[in-house]
Amino acid sequence: MNIATIAGSLRQTSTNRGLIRACIELAPEGLTFDTLSIGEPPHYNGDVAARGEPEAVTRFKAGIDAADAVLIATPEYNYSIPGVLKNAIDWASRPAYQSVFAGKKTGMLGAAYSVVGTARAQSHLKQILLGMATPVFPFPEVLVGAAKAKFDAEGNLIDVPTREFLAKFMLAFAGWIKTG
Ligand SMILES: Cc1cc2nc3c(=O)[nH]c(=O)nc-3n(C[C@H](O)[C@H](O)[C@H](O)COP(=O)(O)O)c2cc1C
Repeated sequence: MNIATIAGSLRQTSTNRGLIRACIELAPEGLTFDTLSIGEPPHYNGDVAARGEPEAVTRFKAGIDAADAVLIATPEYNYSIPGVLKNAIDWASRPAYQSVFAGKKTGMLGAAYSVVGTARAQSHLKQILLGMATPVFPFPEVLVGAAKAKFDAEGNLIDVPTREFLAKFMLAFAGWIKTG
């Protein structure tokens, strides 16, 4: 089974990119991963869409379409998801309810500096996915709060209990993708 991964931060040393790397390292056997980029699609503009889909959008959508499931790691920006992540999702969400996200099993996790660790961002992301008819992995939730202490300067996850929890999360996520 192939999983398309999306990190909601463009920072080179992003903790959310680090979370995705850790998920890949700790995943059970039998999963393969592709990394999708949210930085390339232009700002969503209906006029641009009407003239023809930008190549970067086509690539992003194809990555989701080809995958058995999607895994999104989102930071929390002002109690929600980053605009750059929402922009890429908005492009991929068309045509409404028949997009590459419709019916595509999706899991999420997130790292943020506050102690509530992306609870508000993930709640918004679930709402967004609901609007695209996307089934969301319900449990366990992964909220990595106080992230500054849990990653090194390169954004690698170094907190051992969090790594152990991620391994369990990936096992459960893989089972859900297989069985629904
Ligand atoms: C514009 C902006 C808004 C932010 N708002 C929040 C917030 O609402 N809650 C929070 O916990 N952290 C907030 N942060 C801090 C982020 O959690 C922190 O920068 C996080 O590590 C970003 O993820 P990254 O390491 O993957 O880039 C904000 C950061 C930025 C740049």
